[in-house]
Amino acid sequence: MADRGALKFNQLQSRKKSLKFSRSAIHDWGLYAEEGISKGEMVIEYVGEVVRGSVADKREREYERQGIGSSYLFRIDEASVVDATKRGNLGRLINHSCDPNCTAKIITISGEKKIVIYARREIGVGDEITYDYHFPIEEDNKIPCLCGAVKCRGYLN
Ligand SMILES: C[S@@+](CC[C@H](N)C(=O)[O-])C[C@H]1O[C@@H](n2cnc3c(N)ncnc32)[C@H](O)[C@@H]1O
Ligand SMILES: [Zn+2]
Repeated sequence: MADRGALKFNQLQSRKKSLKFSRSAIHDWGLYAEEGISKGEMVIEYVGEVVRGSVADKREREYERQGIGSSYLFRIDEASVVDATKRGNLGRLINHSCDPNCTAKIITISGEKKIVIYARREIGVGDEITYDYHFPIEEDNKIPCLCGAVKCRGYLN
């Protein structure tokens, strides 16, 4: 029998949340709710190509070389990364916030890992969807955070 995560995921597939992309005060484009979303509900899956960590590292350097400013690489674990740069859905447009209204969770469906974005509090119509990227802290190449939250940490990494 399917577990709770799988059941909820199937519900998300059949009744998708109404979302739209628009310009964001945080960065470039962002994703917005077009309907109210309750705490705990699934918002969207972060879809992309699943690649090994070493492949993702190579691609990241290549994307930087090509001047692709935004990173659409989402690390699942030590071994795998979801790359939404060339193949993805609207989930790739979600910006980071230090006080986000969503959280990203890894769930396993039929042995396949998936990244799913859940509401961590009530989301109103027109609210920008955000989650905490939890980028590892770096000494150099700091990316200033523009989330605007009162408790903003100042940097994405
Ligand atoms: C997955 S993209 C998010 C969508 C992006 N806004 C766009 O238009 O393509 C991730 C990139 O967006 C930017 N970004 C996201 N959240 C940010 C924040 N809070 N402050 C500054 N830049 C942010 C960073 O450049 C990051 O690498
Ligand atoms: Zn911030």
